[in-house]
Amino acid sequence: MISADGADSALVRCLADGSYHSGEALGALLGVSRAAVWKRLQKLAPYGLEVESVRGKGYRLPGGLSLLAETSVRQAMADAGADPDALDLRILDITTSTNADALALAREGLRKTVAVLAEYQNAGRGRRGRPWQSPYGRNLYLSLATSFSGGAAALEGLSLAVGVAVADALKALGLGDRVQLKWPNDIWVAERKLGGILVELAGDMDGICVPVIGIGINGMLTSTAAAAIDQPWTDLTRELGRAPDRNLLAGHVLSALMSVLGEFRQAGFAPLRERWQRYDCCDGREVQVLLGERRIIGVARGVSEQGALLLEVDGVIQRFHGGEVSLRLA
Ligand code: BTN
Repeated sequence: MISADGADSALVRCLADGSYHSGEALGALLGVSRAAVWKRLQKLAPYGLEVESVRGKGYRLPGGLSLLAETSVRQAMADAGADPDALDLRILDITTSTNADALALAREGLRKTVAVLAEYQNAGRGRRGRPWQSPYGRNLYLSLATSFSGGAAALEGLSLAVGVAVADALKALGLGDRVQLKWPNDIWVAERKLGGILVELAGDMDGICVPVIGIGINGMLTSTAAAAIDQPWTDLTRELGRAPDRNLLAGHVLSALMSVLGEFRQAGFAPLRERWQRYDCCDGREVQVLLGERRIIGVARGVSEQGALLLEVDGVIQRFHGGEVSLRLA
């Protein structure tokens, strides 16, 4: 894992239990001196792993870590009603971006739908060229690549359909009716961003097209990661009162995604529209649409059957498509 950059997989796995471990015990585990242990612990900080040290007790990662394990993700998928064998599942430790990985796999050619998960991304991508904060082992970083015939045109509304799947999964995992969607791709709870969706395309834009569906959900943001976010944010630890089991989270999200993608393949976004609107946090509220330098104020009136935002301006409904448009509550 992190060892390429000087840190350590065995160390992190040991500290993942959240208990104190003495410098001596860690030294014995790694076969190094206590001083060397201390040095290696220092190297974890840039990954968002802030180790606490207490004299006489040793070192610990407060709250511990729920690390990803393929068998647990597959079991959680099955428990949530999906067929885990329908997926090629890749769990990575450190990567640049799971979307970049899934795009590379898509370009090599897919034999079946592939999902890539990682503990850490050092170049996580958000919408509109923004970085996505991706500290180690705390959040969900997941990208799924799957083939569609009918070219890019058949994918209209896909990212909104994905939002429905993520919201369904989070609802079932304890957020209940507090989970909301903010057009086009944000997952919200109580007016704060909990996660986001970034769809990128590979393949033939007029033939077999492969969308890479990237999903990021905040499980527990570290203070450093949180400080780098320029909008109100939240995480599952705050919202549920406990750190999430990330394997359960991944399994439920993948299961909901497989089910919604099945529906989307049959008939596109239109039949999912009503479900999307039940989660809509902006419906009937005054909002601003930002289109480059332009700012249009109106009342949000849900979405079209293609997933366009419907905005009422002076009594007339205007439609906006995703891309470079962004939406703010007025
Ligand atoms: C947004 O800006 O709201 C979209 C964020 C999408 C982040 C996820 S994390 C997994 C996948 N890999 C990436 O690099 N980005 C997406």
